[in-house]
Amino acid sequence: MTCTVARLFGDLVARGTRSSIHAYGRGAVVKVPHPSTPTGWIHFEARYAEAAREAGAPVPRLLGIEEMSGRAASVWERAEGTSMWQHVIDQPNLSADLGRLLADIQCALFELVPPVTLPNQHDRLVSKIRWSAATVDASLTRALELLPTQAGPPRLCHGDLHPSNVILGDHGPMIVDWFDASRGDPIADVARTFVTLLGDGTSGPRHLSGSDAPTLAALTEGHLFCLRTALEIADDLLARWEAVQAAARMAEGVPRDALFEVWTRYEGTDDSAHAVRPESGAEPPPAVHAAAN
Ligand SMILES: Nc1ncnc2c1ncn2[C@@H]1O[C@H](COP(=O)(O)OP(=O)(O)OP(=O)(O)O)[C@@H](O)[C@H]1O
Ligand SMILES: [Mg+2]
Repeated sequence: MTCTVARLFGDLVARGTRSSIHAYGRGAVVKVPHPSTPTGWIHFEARYAEAAREAGAPVPRLLGIEEMSGRAASVWERAEGTSMWQHVIDQPNLSADLGRLLADIQCALFELVPPVTLPNQHDRLVSKIRWSAATVDASLTRALELLPTQAGPPRLCHGDLHPSNVILGDHGPMIVDWFDASRGDPIADVARTFVTLLGDGTSGPRHLSGSDAPTLAALTEGHLFCLRTALEIADDLLARWEAVQAAARMAEGVPRDALFEVWTRYEGTDDSAHAVRPESGAEPPPAVHAAAN
């Protein structure tokens, strides 16, 4: 099977958790979903990526959708350069700097006008949390009560912005993997990045292979430090969004220990008890960044 795909598409460029990326003629790649990836996913991602690109985000151009053995595969302009994650692996001493760069890239997305055609972030989170509660632990429905209401106008949120989804080239960064894009609260998107950077026990997350805990912690701190300053994010609100995003991510079939740690740590705080009554004036707990260590 691998040989057939390689013959049809060319060399493997990278392998993600939901797809494989192959060379596809000059200057292009094709994204071939794994058999376990739902059929509609390629079409949705293509639509969201094009909408984000038209809004001004640095996104490779969609060149078409091919039908392969009855399944859709998307063809993209090839982003030249090296993934931000590869830079982290090659030079772990630059992790904090690269975390700050990731924050700058995310902030630049928040400044764009979010396309009306993108899904609503709140709706996407509600579905994921319901799925987590149905398949992992019924008590996770509590995350629905904790979902903060949208503060301010919606922003363009990538929904899965981590260093493997950023390619750094001579002409600046390119952002790939737009399936989780939405219009929504930027702090929720920052918290989503935080949960994607969580290690799993002694090993790093699957989408950031080869990582170690100190490297991830430095990257996370660099990322959060910049964004908390730029967006003036309060500790209690960030901790709440991190807990909600941890509960939602459990729906994605990834290892759950670190996500549960973020969730239960928040659930055990006074702030969690008062979260649905913000007028209570409860003391905010520290955000749970230490969980990345
Ligand atoms: N247009 C592109 N040009 C060059 N490389 C690309 C392009 N699109 C994706 N890649 C590379 O392929 C990798 C996997 O792509 P992508 O993130 O879209 O797949 P995925 O299966 O959704 O990944 P995951 O779920 O693991 O995040 C990226 O990390 C990137 O290195
Ligand atoms: Mg990816």
